[in-house]
Amino acid sequence: MSENPTLVTAAHFRYLAERTLQEDAFLRQLKSAAHSAGIPEIAISPEQAAFMRIVLQLCGAREVVEVGTLAGYSAIAMARALPPDGRVRTIELLDRHADFASAWIARSDVAGRVQVLRGTGADILPTLATHSADAAFLDADKAGYRLYLEECLRIVRPRGVVLIDNAFAFGQLFDDHPTDREVGAVREFNDYVAAHPALHSIIVPIGDGCWLCVKTE
Ligand SMILES: C[S@@+](CC[C@H](N)C(=O)[O-])C[C@H]1O[C@@H](n2cnc3c(N)ncnc32)[C@H](O)[C@@H]1O
Repeated sequence: MSENPTLVTAAHFRYLAERTLQEDAFLRQLKSAAHSAGIPEIAISPEQAAFMRIVLQLCGAREVVEVGTLAGYSAIAMARALPPDGRVRTIELLDRHADFASAWIARSDVAGRVQVLRGTGADILPTLATHSADAAFLDADKAGYRLYLEECLRIVRPRGVVLIDNAFAFGQLFDDHPTDREVGAVREFNDYVAAHPALHSIIVPIGDGCWLCVKTE
């Protein structure tokens, strides 16, 4: 294998997107309704959803915990990877987002498989039982990521998986003067994950960079 791997460009992203399972009409409608309702367009991409779905299927996930529901796009996508008795518990700070997500989840094909928990990740995660999940997905405020990761390492079973969004800091990872105030937190968090003794991790260059971490203990 070359030490100079192929540089992944926008063209590569387009190429892989064209060859990856795309969102169905329901998720397209959800996105469009969320946009009309003034909810920010910051859900994961269809390619990232497809990737996460494969990861969850590979690890035989039944229970998933998410921080950051938004409109419910990723929660529904993940729930579709679970068996009929599986469950996504998804945590959302804003009632406006939780209300919208709950309504769309209720009319989705995975209505019984997604539970919206209202509050902050910092408040809700400590209430979830140890080893009660197979996987977790972090996609909320970046300053909270370190705490969320440590809580999820308790909640996720041994050899379980943690996926974490935005490792590329909204495309501003290498900017000298980033405009987004969370870029510094992402950089620090990336170094924290890379050196974490209880994780075997890699950043997958899909979407805005998605950490794929396996709990080694
Ligand atoms: C990037 S969006 C999540 C996108 C969603 N995972 C998807 O792909 O469909 C981040 C969400 O996290 C929520 N959020 C922000 N801070 C939070 C916190 N401290 N605890 C829980 N949720 C939070 C925001 O309100 C927003 O809905």
